Amino acid sequence: WDQLGCGEGGCGACTVMLSKFDRLQKKIVHFSVNACLAPICSLHHVAVTTVEGIGSTKTRLHPVQERISKSHGSQCGFCTPGIVMSMYTLLRNNPEPTMEEIENAFQGNLCRCTGYRPILQGFRTFAKDGGCCGGTGENPNCCMYQKENSKVSPLNLSSSLFNSEEFLPLDPTQEPIFPPELMRLKDEPQKQLCFQGERVKWIQTATLKELLELKAEHPDAKLVVGNTEIGIEMKFKNKLFPLIVCPAWIPELNSVKRGPEGISFGAACPLSEMEKALVAAIAELPSYQTEVFKGVLEQLRWFAGKQVKSVASVGGNIINASPISDLNPVFMASGSKLTLVSKGTKRTVRMDHMFFPSYRKTLLSPEEILLSIEIPYSRKGEYFSAFKQASRREDDIAKVTCGMRVLFKPESDQVQELDISFGGMADKTIPALKTTRKQQGRAWNEELLQEVCASLAEELSLEPDAPGGMVEFRRTLTLSFFFKFYLTVLQKLGKDSTDKCDKLDPTYASATLLFQKEPPANVQLFQEVPKGQAEDDMLFCDDIPPYSNELYLRLVTSTKAHARIKSIDISEAQKVPGFIHFLSADDIPGSNETGLFNDETVFAKHKVTCVGHIIGAVVTDTPEHAQRAAQAVKIEYEELPAIITIELKIEKGDLKKGFAEADNVVSGELYIGGQEHFYLETHCTIAVPKGEEGEMELFVSTQNTMKTQSFVAKVLGVPDNRIVVRVKRMGGGFGGKETRSTVLSTAVALAAYKTGRPVRCMLDRDEDMLITGGRHPFLARYKVGFMKTGKIVALEVEHYSNAGNTLDLSQSIMERALFHMDNCYKIPNIRGIGRLCKTNLSSNTAFRGFGGPQGMLIAEYWMSEVALTCRLPAEEVRRLNMYKEGDLTHFNQKLEGFTLPRCWDECLESSKYHARRNEIETFNKENCWKKRGLCIIPTKFGISFTVPFLNQAGALVHVYTDGSVLLTHGGTEMGQGLHTKMIQVASKALKIPTSKIYISETSTSTVPNTSPTAASVSADINGQAVYEACKTILQRLEPFKKKNPNGSWKDWVSLYEIYLTPNLGYSFETNSGNPFHYFSYGVACSEVEIDCLTGDHKNIRTDIVMDVGSSLNPAIDIGQVEGAFVQGLGLFTLEELHYSPEGTLHTRGPSTYKIPAFGNIPIDFRVSLLRDCPNKKAIYASKAVGEPPLFLASSIFFAIKDAICAARAQHADFKMKELFQLDSPATPEKIRNACVDKFTTLCVTEVSANCKPWSIRV
Ligand SMILES: Cc1cc2nc3c(=O)[nH]c(=O)nc-3n(C[C@H](O)[C@H](O)[C@H](O)COP(=O)(O)OP(=O)(O)OC[C@H]3O[C@@H](n4cnc5c(N)ncnc54)[C@H](O)[C@@H]3O)c2cc1C
Ligand code: FES
Ligand code: FES
Repeated sequence: WDQLGCGEGGCGACTVMLSKFDRLQKKIVHFSVNACLAPICSLHHVAVTTVEGIGSTKTRLHPVQERISKSHGSQCGFCTPGIVMSMYTLLRNNPEPTMEEIENAFQGNLCRCTGYRPILQGFRTFAKDGGCCGGTGENPNCCMYQKENSKVSPLNLSSSLFNSEEFLPLDPTQEPIFPPELMRLKDEPQKQLCFQGERVKWIQTATLKELLELKAEHPDAKLVVGNTEIGIEMKFKNKLFPLIVCPAWIPELNSVKRGPEGISFGAACPLSEMEKALVAAIAELPSYQTEVFKGVLEQLRWFAGKQVKSVASVGGNIINASPISDLNPVFMASGSKLTLVSKGTKRTVRMDHMFFPSYRKTLLSPEEILLSIEIPYSRKGEYFSAFKQASRREDDIAKVTCGMRVLFKPESDQVQELDISFGGMADKTIPALKTTRKQQGRAWNEELLQEVCASLAEELSLEPDAPGGMVEFRRTLTLSFFFKFYLTVLQKLGKDSTDKCDKLDPTYASATLLFQKEPPANVQLFQEVPKGQAEDDMLFCDDIPPYSNELYLRLVTSTKAHARIKSIDISEAQKVPGFIHFLSADDIPGSNETGLFNDETVFAKHKVTCVGHIIGAVVTDTPEHAQRAAQAVKIEYEELPAIITIELKIEKGDLKKGFAEADNVVSGELYIGGQEHFYLETHCTIAVPKGEEGEMELFVSTQNTMKTQSFVAKVLGVPDNRIVVRVKRMGGGFGGKETRSTVLSTAVALAAYKTGRPVRCMLDRDEDMLITGGRHPFLARYKVGFMKTGKIVALEVEHYSNAGNTLDLSQSIMERALFHMDNCYKIPNIRGIGRLCKTNLSSNTAFRGFGGPQGMLIAEYWMSEVALTCRLPAEEVRRLNMYKEGDLTHFNQKLEGFTLPRCWDECLESSKYHARRNEIETFNKENCWKKRGLCIIPTKFGISFTVPFLNQAGALVHVYTDGSVLLTHGGTEMGQGLHTKMIQVASKALKIPTSKIYISETSTSTVPNTSPTAASVSADINGQAVYEACKTILQRLEPFKKKNPNGSWKDWVSLYEIYLTPNLGYSFETNSGNPFHYFSYGVACSEVEIDCLTGDHKNIRTDIVMDVGSSLNPAIDIGQVEGAFVQGLGLFTLEELHYSPEGTLHTRGPSTYKIPAFGNIPIDFRVSLLRDCPNKKAIYASKAVGEPPLFLASSIFFAIKDAICAARAQHADFKMKELFQLDSPATPEKIRNACVDKFTTLCVTEVSANCKPWSIRV
């Protein structure tokens, strides 16, 4: 496959299309799968289409590839092949999909760069309801509407980033045909197949008889159908199943039959087929018969992506017996029947409380298999609902999931049967028997509701240290779900008869609505600039073909947070085939000391200071052997403890006086969780020894070629000039590859040195998340003094950041947090203190925003409390305190070219803030259990590295005799469009077309001593260096030009230029000197809707006005604004890292750590770039844009807070304080817990002092 982003089916980067002749349906079927989970043995008789198979720049791009490229839906490009293949598969099955179908096709795909909008907009052109409405204005994204818009707009304003008229049409007749050699096999009887591997035998059985005989003979044989469970267990839990039997070909296991009591599905039936059969049944059968089917469909709607559902089997879900299975609670509550067979036996059982005797166990005997499941038709007077709450709607495992069924006595509202089953509330799927049994014969009314809730709260209690944590939230959800079920049934009963039961309060009605999301609509407004964007086939570090004698490296890391290493035993690892060497600190010829502040080691020698600390590495012939060998290394530890802090401070004015003058003082605390970079391409290095004088060439996915070079040289004990570091591009970096890439590249270089052979390593996602750290978690204690008018007079904030086990960039990050603690507000008396906490976690590091977002969130947080306390509209208080042109910041830098008020006013107006505020108030009055919130938030972001000498860059321009130009600069490309912008700068400076200019790579051998590509300044400083170099070339060419004014490039020139940003240098001691070259400004207004019962939220609309100066490339800049915004949305509302009290990271992959997916972006997303605001201080009057917009996503956080305020006001009877703590991220758990009501109060859980919870705040 093309890309490996996670290896666990969670990112979709590896998506390919499979095609096969389906013998039951008698036709060719196409479906998308995750290649990382598809066993090669399962592909017999199957055609595989990868992205290369549908088109390339060398031949012709497929319309799907062309449209994603031209709509700028690809930044780093790592996710693109997978997204293209998901779309391609959809179009192969349905050339005219609806927008909803397109969105659903991407439920299993993630992108960390684009913010998704451009992808959807490009693909919308394939949609029958999305492309063109004929300019009627019904569809804001209609191509004609957009053209109209751009024609009439003044100032050459445009709202279309691409011209859909240029697109190749989609012609389904031109697609590759199903391979004839496979077609010929379609009538041949399928025969048993056997594949023998090094340790595993795979048998593909053709008949049920064969299968049962095999199971009788080998009861331990493992059945595998979709491999979406077993694949994970083998890869991540180190499980070995020596005999695997695949029953996927057996007709009885695939059949779908409608019987007298229900529909029966063969156990190997893929979930996508089950979905189709149920949709058909719902369309054809009377509605009352299909209540359970609708429940199953609701669960399948939020069940993984298409890639998983098209192979994962219903039987696999049942037998896997996961405590959080989404289907088992539905099957249990509905009384579904299971048919179990073994050689000579057959029995049918009902899925009830006996079916799962304990964790991951079922009633099946070892010889037995599940043949089929029958899902019953519902009867008249029977109602069914299913609910699931997860951290993210799309492709996420449940926190709590359930099925609920009630059957009423004929023509009455008296309960005859009530069944409720839950997942996520024990170590297996459980029915709430105690509660439900008591309800027989009772009327469906408020009294029953109260009693069920009280009883559920008692029956489903969780211990405070229950695995999975979130104890109160999960307990509350069980009641919330029942309340929703109660209301839904009440509504249905009300419809069926008028006078049977309680009436539904109209303000409660929205609580019964299932989560609905309208198709997204978007508008971008910007000033036009000439276009010049290239497309190419993207190669990443690991795409470099293997060298003939290449070896593979795998790191061996600590499982303890702080311990002395007592012994390392490699004897078992040495027995693994292909084992070559175990590397440790003793192998280092140079220095083991590394890191920015020499406080790290390449390999821990005596002591480890975090889980994931690198102790050694195994080198073997293949990645598989390396994994086995690394797992076989045994390390003995003696555990230890430790914590140290250091302090930074900014102070201005007289704080004591300020607080004394204030009418009011509010103090509080805010915790902001960390964030994983989740670049789709994990860290990767290939080191190639050159065999001469210690020379070595490294291909690395890094933002920092210089540090990679110098750290490797130091480890190997050679001068820097022997080491060449080359970077083609990265599949995302976001700061995570600024310094932490060196922990891998030094180890790989050492392995290459030791073995004399090329060595490669690409970290698995779980290793990457464990070892390489992320954004710093922050804890802030604040005290703010203000007048009745809302004017701030004094502020004191203590910031604590969790630095992890080394200093790395933590100090600079804290400095930036302090520089941004004012956000955009003038505070006369202020003190900011920063403390770095050294802890036994992996070192945290740079992440887009670099401490700025944490500093600013704290500012907006106390600001929201000031407004609440003064009972003034928050936007007025914000505006009142906002800086003015020429003001001095708290670090005494003058604000010049202060465009923020313009951004603010434009955003207020374009978002129709005031009108929508009134609409929201009405909505909130009319809806008791759903609330909306609105918030407008500004940002001011300082541009520069705060360490002055880093603000320099180099560029090398080669002009060849054929007139082509090879451009090299110090910046690395990671999807931010830097190379494209640099080509534009050179093209403008040299006055030649962009097509004549090429950037091949970044390399220490062409531009040395570079700063990392970070701090948003790369386009500024490298652009200036490119410009200077071009200018010098032009000057040198001047005499030749004069001689021959009509000639072209005749000579070649090689020129290197350095650019250093002027006038930088701040002193914390004197609080003087400028830390920043200039500031970028922006404002966002966001509206959300929360479900007070479950904590879910919907991002309804966001308007952004961003000042990017005179944009060098609006498509790239808008891509950066949207991408950063969506990453911020993840930071503030979704992404939550969980650590055990022992310092082990629980969340190590996309299954447990949720970055935003397609469905999380605002339904209505409008971005406009501020017009006519040239920036005097940067190249071609542009402004940095990589980091500044990230913080604007906090407008969603504060809109959620606003909605929670409305919910709390509704339930004022619980005597809540007006100010309440909402830590970041605002996950469903935090939202639900903050919406205090009669259900939350029933689920308060006592936590004893010695309780060791599953997860702790770090
Ligand atoms: C990215 C991702 C997302 C997921 N999302 C969800 C989700 O939202 N909700 C959810 O509930 N699950 C989810 N899962 C879990 C998983 O996809 C399902 O449990 C799936 O239905 C398993 O089916 P399979 O065919 O792939 O199982 P396999 O891995 O092939 O097998 C699973 C187990 O079932 C046994 N088995 C299979 N068939 C039979 C049979 N006929 N008789 C006896 N034993 C049998 C196997 O021996 C094995 O022990 C997700 C998994 C992934 C990778
Ligand atoms: S790599 Fe296969 S889904 Fe992520
Ligand atoms: S473009 Fe999608 S992950 Fe980079």
